[in-house]
Amino acid sequence: MECLPNATSQIVVYVNGKEVIERQPDPETTLLYFLRNKLHLTGSKLGCGEGGCGACTVMVSSYNREEDVIRHVAVNACLTPLCSVAGMAITTVEGIGSTRTSLHPVQERIAKAHGSQCGFCTPGFVMSMYTLLRNNPTPSEEEIEAAFEGNLCRCTGYRSILEGYKTFAKGCCKKGKTCCQNEQNTDNEQGSPQLFDASEFTPLDPSQEPIFPPALQV
Ligand code: FES
Ligand code: FES
Repeated sequence: MECLPNATSQIVVYVNGKEVIERQPDPETTLLYFLRNKLHLTGSKLGCGEGGCGACTVMVSSYNREEDVIRHVAVNACLTPLCSVAGMAITTVEGIGSTRTSLHPVQERIAKAHGSQCGFCTPGFVMSMYTLLRNNPTPSEEEIEAAFEGNLCRCTGYRSILEGYKTFAKGCCKKGKTCCQNEQNTDNEQGSPQLFDASEFTPLDPSQEPIFPPALQV
């Protein structure tokens, strides 16, 4: 068990591809506190602090030696003890893209679909969707809805978030075609305007995602 209170204990985690060593970790430190207060990665938000809102969602990746597979799981960092992710790779919203470099398609689509207002919930939605896509680049619409069961938004009413993200679903936004979500929501009886133009979206390219740190597979 890591996190023993002695002078030699330390844990190693990889955060957004970089090795981080925490010496004498406090067993009560949460992953969220560590990310925000020690690494100053403040993209993951502290909302409820008790696993109810999903604003703190990050992706935790680990290597299963017996099955020789890498697993990606979306977790509530506010409930996750830092010590429980020793030897694992953490990806936060800062690790997938930014306005300073380039946005990841998951970030771009929630923005262009008007799925972010105050923005407090957005990093959590982004990381839930990103984790789903890392495990399955062509999810069904039902799988996308299920991925957000732990994310709350008090501003948008969810429609724009879901419609933006359902463009990742099987059969949607194929090259040269209009997105099926757009088709459903354009020129309806009430004459509501379409929320976005799916042809502007950057395609998802799973081959461009960061690799799992090789050091954690040894
Ligand atoms: S801060 Fe609300 S689930 Fe973590
Ligand atoms: S955009 Fe404000 S809580 Fe979701």
